[in-house]
Amino acid sequence: MSVIIAPSLLSADFLELGTELERLNQVDDLWLHLDVMDGHFVPNLTFGAPVLAKLKGASKHKLDAHFMVTNPEAYADSFKDLGLHNFTFHWEAVTHQDRMIALLKERYPSVGISLNPATPLAAVPNYIWGKVDLVLLMSVNPGFGGQKFIPAIVDKVIELDQIRHKHNLGFSIQVDGGVTDENAGYLIQAGANNLVAGSYVFSAPNKDYQSRINKIR
Ligand code: DX5
Ligand code: ZN
Repeated sequence: MSVIIAPSLLSADFLELGTELERLNQVDDLWLHLDVMDGHFVPNLTFGAPVLAKLKGASKHKLDAHFMVTNPEAYADSFKDLGLHNFTFHWEAVTHQDRMIALLKERYPSVGISLNPATPLAAVPNYIWGKVDLVLLMSVNPGFGGQKFIPAIVDKVIELDQIRHKHNLGFSIQVDGGVTDENAGYLIQAGANNLVAGSYVFSAPNKDYQSRINKIR
C-alpha cells in the first residue's frame, strides 16, 4: 500500500486560503484533510458546509472530511454534494454505528471511523472492520492542531494492522495528530498508510510545503 499524506487545512492561513490551496496543488498525491468541529464533541469550532463548498473547485486533491461533531448523522445529507471523497465520523459520537456506515456508503465514495486515543480497538466489534474504507486513529485528543503526539498510538496501529491482516481486509489506517518527520517512519512501519499532518506541514520555512511532505515521505 502506498502512503498518502493528508495536510490538515486547520493549520493553513485562513486569510489566504486560496493561495494556500494553490500551494498544495503544486504537490501530487495528497488528500486534503478537513477538520469539521462543532464546539460540542470537541472544545473548538472550525468550518462547515459553506467553506467546504468553495474547496471543491479550488483543490485538486481528494477531500477528506473528519467530523469531530456530536451528531454526524445530521451532516450526512447536508455535505453530500460538496465533492467529499471520504467522510470520517467518530465512533464515540454515534450510537448506531452500523446504520451510520450504511447511510454514508450510499452518499460518499469512502467511509471512515475515528477513535479517540482513549477508545480501545476492542470497542469496535469485528464485523464492522470489513464495512469501512478507513480507520482513523487519533494520536492527540481531538480539537486543536499543534499538539504533542501520543507515542502509545504506535502500538495501537500495530494491533489494528494485525486485525486487518487477520481478516484479510484493505481498509486504510490513518493517523492524525502531532505527525512529523520524526514519528512518520514508526507509524508507517507499524502499518499506517495515511498520515494527517497539520502544523508540521504548514509551519514549513518559506511555505515550502513540498519539502515538509517529502520529509515525511
Ligand atoms: C485535531 C485534528 C487534526 C489536526 C492535526 O483534532 O483532527 O487533523 O489538524 O494537526 P497537527 O498535525 O498539528 O497535530
Ligand atoms: Zn483531523
